[in-house]
Amino acid sequence: MPDPLTKFTYQAFQQGKQYFGITHKTLSNNLMKAFQPPKNVETQGVDLKTLQQLQQRMAALLEQDWQDAEAGIYPKQLLFDNPWEDFLRFYPLVCLDLPKIWQRANDRNYHSFAKDIDTSGYPQYYLQNFHYQTDGYLSDLSAHLYDLQVEILFNGNADPMRRRILPPLKAGLAGVEKAKVLDIACGTGRTLSMIRAMLPKASLYGVDLSPAYLRKANETLSAQPGVLPQLIQANGEALPFVDDYFDAVVSVFLFHELPATARQNVIDQAFRVLKPGGILVLCDSIQRVDSPEFEVMMDNFPAMFHEPYYRHYTTDDLNSRLTTAGFEGVTNQVHFMSKYWVAQKPAVA
Ligand SMILES: C[S@@+](CC[C@H](N)C(=O)[O-])C[C@H]1O[C@@H](n2cnc3c(N)ncnc32)[C@H](O)[C@@H]1O
Repeated sequence: MPDPLTKFTYQAFQQGKQYFGITHKTLSNNLMKAFQPPKNVETQGVDLKTLQQLQQRMAALLEQDWQDAEAGIYPKQLLFDNPWEDFLRFYPLVCLDLPKIWQRANDRNYHSFAKDIDTSGYPQYYLQNFHYQTDGYLSDLSAHLYDLQVEILFNGNADPMRRRILPPLKAGLAGVEKAKVLDIACGTGRTLSMIRAMLPKASLYGVDLSPAYLRKANETLSAQPGVLPQLIQANGEALPFVDDYFDAVVSVFLFHELPATARQNVIDQAFRVLKPGGILVLCDSIQRVDSPEFEVMMDNFPAMFHEPYYRHYTTDDLNSRLTTAGFEGVTNQVHFMSKYWVAQKPAVA
């Protein structure tokens, strides 16, 4: 039965998050201009037409999110899942951290880690302050602030964009009783938490290079009901699993932070650990080829945030990388500011 009241509540909830994100960014930009005006940052203005297109895409994303929840693909409660306690606790720290981020941006200082952080053993490309964030991905503070920072960046649409991986994942696992699913670069565990709600019988695994983000994922996932996913510190380029092990592999918002060779390595590894017939679902930023109307934003993003591999990513042909690895049936979708790749390992290898 259609459920207009819940839909209205969901829309109001999303609108609240949108206003919060916009207000935060407007205030922090004004403060930055007043106290630490950005040096050497060349960004272009976004015209009204582009903003309207963006607004339309956002509305379409939220409508699709609602439709899929109403169709029972995933539980409606996911639409309202928000780490409120964390947000209230860490929002002041997000604000207090801003001057340090502005300072690093002005100094072009993106190799800055607290003295007690052990940076040995990580790939060189990873040891950076992506987004100029304090300690990169390598401290508990960074892990505590991350979800809130991403929600603000996307005006409350990060989770709806992550949820777009759920319908192809569920369809790809139809008929698999106890699926094994791996999330590469699981971060703080938002995607694993969504998959667990949709597929409560599945065995879930998450890998990430950051011990701090895995700690945070463990903390949040163990506070919710359900079997705890296995969380392992590992490089997506060298997955610590035997061949043909998983029914599905997913990865969200990783590829734009990898150099090109690492992107191919992660795809090759996903292929290796998938069972024949297994499914891969990727989500990351939009690219130039299918979102030319948002080129200005794709140019502005790495100019404002430290994202050294983003520019190349926006032109990288991941479809071709997937077929090079051996995947077949590659399809793409675009929702709001994200793009999706769905691919299958051939049933007979
Ligand atoms: C932008 S965050 C995305 C996190 C999460 N998937 C999400 O949806 O929020 C990128 C994540 O990739 C992880 N990461 C980066 N390079 C990696 C690699 N080579 N192997 C495993 N994790 C990596 C980082 O530690 C970080 O948690």
